[in-house]
Amino acid sequence: MAITKEDILKALSYVEEPDLGKDLVTLNMIEDVQVDGKNVSFTVILTTPACPLKDLIRNACVNAVHAMVDKEANVTVNMTSRVTSGRGDTSEVLNGVKNIIAVASGKGGVGKSTVTSNLAIALAQSGARVGLIDADISGPSIPTMFGAEQDRPLMVQGDHGKNYIQPVEKYGVKMMSIGFLTPADGAVVWRGPMASSALRQFISDVEWGELDYLLLDLPPGTSDIHLTMVQALPVTGAVIVTTPQKVALADAVRGLQMFRQPQINVPVLGVVENMAYFTPAELPENKYYIFGEGGGKALAEKFDITLLGQVPIVQSIRESGDAGTPVVMQNDSPASGVFKELAQAVAQQVSVRNATLAKTKPVEIKS
Ligand SMILES: Nc1ncnc2c1ncn2[C@@H]1O[C@H](COP(=O)(O)OP(=O)(O)OP(=O)(O)O)[C@@H](O)[C@H]1O
Ligand SMILES: [Mg+2]
Repeated sequence: MAITKEDILKALSYVEEPDLGKDLVTLNMIEDVQVDGKNVSFTVILTTPACPLKDLIRNACVNAVHAMVDKEANVTVNMTSRVTSGRGDTSEVLNGVKNIIAVASGKGGVGKSTVTSNLAIALAQSGARVGLIDADISGPSIPTMFGAEQDRPLMVQGDHGKNYIQPVEKYGVKMMSIGFLTPADGAVVWRGPMASSALRQFISDVEWGELDYLLLDLPPGTSDIHLTMVQALPVTGAVIVTTPQKVALADAVRGLQMFRQPQINVPVLGVVENMAYFTPAELPENKYYIFGEGGGKALAEKFDITLLGQVPIVQSIRESGDAGTPVVMQNDSPASGVFKELAQAVAQQVSVRNATLAKTKPVEIKS
């Protein structure tokens, strides 16, 4: 019997998207089914190009067609993606941006900027459109980590005579930082209100265009800047970075609770345990838990959030950050693989969040 498009859709309706718990047809993830004799092709539209289940889903589709339609069919599965959005607002602000992800910690120096830089580049490498706002006004480190200290955003004139700022772009990531607005050598101190207004400009006057993910590298702690950013923006979710020692974990809990306050109510996508252990290059089997073992996992379990990844202490992570070429760009380095997997885990949690939780509206500021 000749194969029909209906046969194919029927078979694919038995393939489940493991994260979302529904089948691909119900989720509208199948398009462009073509049948020509024994040649069958269709497109699977994933919710993120960084989908860690890509191969698994592809194989399940091929198997379903072979098992339920014709075991001799030549099946071509085209995989593409359309990133889902976490936004429930209709604001003009950042209206081309689908997901805003805040990267926060309680304690300083735990590796937020390192994680954010590598995460941004890994997402861009997967094919996503990525932006990054360095919201650290007293110690902006994004320009250094991207080797972009000398770069400056361009002012462009848009329609109706309004001026726009064009973000700096490097390694496939569009970014803004207060570090781009001050002389590269001068330690300019930005006072609170001025810094807040510069940050607001990053949101209102920068031409970000269409982005799948806009990451916010927040300063340490739970300051006014956090409130400004989290209240002004419809944040899709927060990623908490911590190191495993007790003092860092206690601060991470404070960070987490800030997002969970009812008046803020930003879903926490998960926790990243940075500096989880040290492995010397000459003893690759050994792991030394310098800051204690299992802290990130315990935190994730206690607060019922996902442990997104564990990043080891690796000299090349520090060196590459200082050199302006984040480690995720060195394809042969094991640390690079760690950050690629982390990016997949974050993208996966964004997709799950968008499929299961209410969309985010910016907090209404009542004065
Ligand atoms: N996994 C790691 N292995 C080795 N060095 C690391 C690792 N993570 C971060 N570092 C180094 O630790 C230092 C602090 O990291 P980073 O600047 O990313 O922290 P931060 O949380 O953004 O700090 P701040 O609170 O000041 O913004 C940097 O020199 C960075 O290169
Ligand atoms: Mg930082």
